[in-house]
Amino acid sequence: MGILAKHKILETNATLLLIFSFFVVTIGGLVQIVPLFYLENTIEKVEGVRPYTPLELAGRDIYIREGCYVCHSQMIRPMRDETERYGHYSLAAESMYDHPFQWGSKRTGPDLARVGERYSDEWHVDHLTNPQSVVPESIMPKYGFLSHTVIDGRYIRDLMSVHRIVGVPYSDEMLENAVADFKAQANPDADTDGLLERYGKAAVRNFDGQAELTEMDALISYLQVLGTMVDFSTFTPDDSR
Ligand code: HEC
Repeated sequence: MGILAKHKILETNATLLLIFSFFVVTIGGLVQIVPLFYLENTIEKVEGVRPYTPLELAGRDIYIREGCYVCHSQMIRPMRDETERYGHYSLAAESMYDHPFQWGSKRTGPDLARVGERYSDEWHVDHLTNPQSVVPESIMPKYGFLSHTVIDGRYIRDLMSVHRIVGVPYSDEMLENAVADFKAQANPDADTDGLLERYGKAAVRNFDGQAELTEMDALISYLQVLGTMVDFSTFTPDDSR
């Protein structure tokens, strides 16, 4: 019996065809899935990437609450038009502590993955309060109310614990000092040695220029850290694999 004739037995017998199809799909699936269990990690470790400070994390929550991601992506693709405009393409490690990630799928406004330290804090206050005062043709909504919403970090420790559950390496010490670090970051007169030891290179300053600690401080501290953790003047991709 030729190979075609043998195959005809399969093609004309539905049960046999189902059984054999199941076998083929199972083998194909195993070949794809099993190697993944033996990978040590899927994200290349990159120097400089650290968990968000308590204030930045609170700012990130405000970013999500206000739906900024509806108009802004945070993912620079490795294509020339994007890297020329926004900078080095995004690395997986840069969003490894983002739960949920903010890559986004819509760019009504520009990508924000590397907006950190591109503008001054004052610019952000002006822009968030009234975008049209800085960019007349802007269609971005006004967020001035953030300057009037005072925050005290009473829930920040819980928020950090939740992030720890999903894998962000917040230490016990970070949790214990959550509220103190939260307040210290926007207060240039505070004792920030501990904060800086726990979160390398965190920016400490009065972000919104007001005496009170507000949601505006938190949001700007978050915007100013975006894309700044990795030093791309010394970064070299790991091509060893
Ligand atoms: C309705 C869509 C929309 C929403 C929602 C929105 N933005 Fe924008 N955003 C824009 C547009 C359009 C621009 C470009 C014009 C401008 O600079 O205002 C922009 C610009 C920006 C810029 C300047 C980026 C650059 O590289 O020049 C920042 C920062 C920014 N938005 C932050 C935010 C934050 C934070 C939020 C949430 C609190 C937010 N946006 C919500 C549309 C939006």
